[in-house]
Amino acid sequence: MYIFANWKMYLDFDESCILMSQLMAENFDIDAQLGIFPSTLAFSEIEKLARDTQWGIGAQNVAWVEKGAYTGAVSAHLFKEVGAQYAMVGHSERRHIFGEKNEDTQKKMQACLDVGLVPVLCIGETQEDKENDKRQYRLKRQLHEALQGLDLQEESFLVAYEPVWAIGSGTPCTDTDAEDVAGWIKSELKDTFNLANIAVLYGGSVDSKNVLSYTTQPSIDGVLVGGASAKFDTFSALIRAVAKG
Ligand code: 13P
Repeated sequence: MYIFANWKMYLDFDESCILMSQLMAENFDIDAQLGIFPSTLAFSEIEKLARDTQWGIGAQNVAWVEKGAYTGAVSAHLFKEVGAQYAMVGHSERRHIFGEKNEDTQKKMQACLDVGLVPVLCIGETQEDKENDKRQYRLKRQLHEALQGLDLQEESFLVAYEPVWAIGSGTPCTDTDAEDVAGWIKSELKDTFNLANIAVLYGGSVDSKNVLSYTTQPSIDGVLVGGASAKFDTFSALIRAVAKG
């Protein structure tokens, strides 16, 4: 079970450190891989606070080259060097606000795998895709184009299904629908890439009240949480809900 927190650009440095310290002070008594994806500026401090705990730390985004003249970029290699375990690739906000393409996600996947970071490949259809019956088409392209040409091993990456219309909207995907898509992603990975052990997470308006409806689905291996992960009360309630479940 994975419970991953995408802090996006919600928290400044001090707020990030305070929230992480509060989380570290709790004993959640949960058999899960907990993860934080902090801002790049707070990354090293959060990593120090989380060291030798059940919390893994990840990058929200990586550049695919290793080093060089790439103003403003931070590579998978540089994140790995400061203790990152995971990296998100192809988050909806990277795709839709910053224009990231499927071919970029493929290079980022490769860069993460090359340095031993576990990429979390985020895929999801827009409202328009959904209305035009193009969900499967969109997900298939995002999945296949991100993975093509890579030497993929079992458990070397994760997939997060995050429908764009469910992110930050307060309108999550229904649990049965998310389960159907997670099952479909798993069958695609098996049939096309011969991978039977890739975890699939759901993300999009997950909170303490609905989290169990996802984590108890057979094909869903965890959740990727945005807004509800950026405050102590809402995030600790969410983890406790899963722990008790
Ligand atoms: P919300 O939980 O705020 O909908 O965000 C989901 C997300 O984008 C996680 O990566």
